[in-house]
Amino acid sequence: MSLPDGGTGSATQNSARMSATIIVPERVVDDVVLIRRDLHMHPELGFQEHRTAGIVADRLRALGYEVHEGVGRTGVVGVLRGAKPGRTIMLRADMDALPITEERGHSYRSQAEGRMHACGHDGHVAILLGAAALIADRRDDLAGTLCLVFQPAEEGLGGAKVMIEDGLFERFGIERAYGLHLSSKYPTGVLGFREGPMYASSDSIEIEVKGVGGHGSAPHDAIDPIYTAATFITSVQSVVSRQIDPLEPAVVTIGAMHAGTTHNVIPRNAAMLGTVRAFDAGVRAQMPERIERVLRACCDAAGAAYDFRYLWRYPVTANDPAQTQYARALAARVVGEERVIDAARLMGAEDFSFYAERVPACFYTLGCSSGDDTSHPHHSSFFDIDERALPNGVAMMTALALDAARNAP
Ligand code: NI
Repeated sequence: MSLPDGGTGSATQNSARMSATIIVPERVVDDVVLIRRDLHMHPELGFQEHRTAGIVADRLRALGYEVHEGVGRTGVVGVLRGAKPGRTIMLRADMDALPITEERGHSYRSQAEGRMHACGHDGHVAILLGAAALIADRRDDLAGTLCLVFQPAEEGLGGAKVMIEDGLFERFGIERAYGLHLSSKYPTGVLGFREGPMYASSDSIEIEVKGVGGHGSAPHDAIDPIYTAATFITSVQSVVSRQIDPLEPAVVTIGAMHAGTTHNVIPRNAAMLGTVRAFDAGVRAQMPERIERVLRACCDAAGAAYDFRYLWRYPVTANDPAQTQYARALAARVVGEERVIDAARLMGAEDFSFYAERVPACFYTLGCSSGDDTSHPHHSSFFDIDERALPNGVAMMTALALDAARNAP
């Protein structure tokens, strides 16, 4: 149960390092499960995580952390300064739930109609609080400065960006960032790593096609925005299939289309909402112009006008290769090489990307699936985790806290 120690220790410590594991005591495991279930029963949406943030702040304070509340609205930062010199690192957990009604009947089912921890963020908070307790117990081993960052509003509202705009990096001097996401794609307790791009960028488009309304029997006297929108919806797929390098993943999805009121009236307008994903910053940068060019052509052909808005949301989540190699090697020491895997790329997005744009960073996955009950996709109303995954998350976060400030590249 010795902890990973860098090359700074004695020969004895060095030999211990190679086989080092972190034992998470049963009382901590039990506590982490209790926290997770309590948060699961009381889910809160983005920037409304007042109860969650209060629990986090109280626990950190009781453990001796310096606590900063209201960072990026409902965010909480717990700071612990080590006795030894080292970098300032952050470990991040996101706190928000989703506007989904849970359909599972377990004892810790969501008590809030229409809100649910369907992505595992309850587990992320519980894991980081468990690690906070273990780290506080070993404060004498801590080097540098540790910032535990409990972030609001990961689900679409960009809580990471809001914390950064609130001075997260300047106020705390953060030099390295690490975070994890539970994953129902992978077996319980397995840690997944990937160098470079891991999650896609995610941007939004909002379009209004402006035609001329008229009688459904007289299209020649109108400019039909529904027909025009329909040509755009099919033509815009040519951006990915004909204009982007086929070796570069990209997606354009029109997810909403609203127009018209009845059978025989050509409406004036048609509105569309869509999402745009890419895995490369260069590809992402080309998307607004390419999409608008198709829109302009479709509208020109029909004689319609348009409004086009491209909303930059989450960048590509790209892991620093050196940090990832370091974290992966550390993980092999903590949970065993056989429980470390290559994580697949995902077209989903993560606002951890904003941290990774600022400092060398590594975001990794923790498998939490052990059967039908725990293999539902994230954001499903049936989503649940195998809680036996939590200890490995606690161990890995603790190892990073105790090791990275001195030994990460
Ligand atoms: Ni998530």
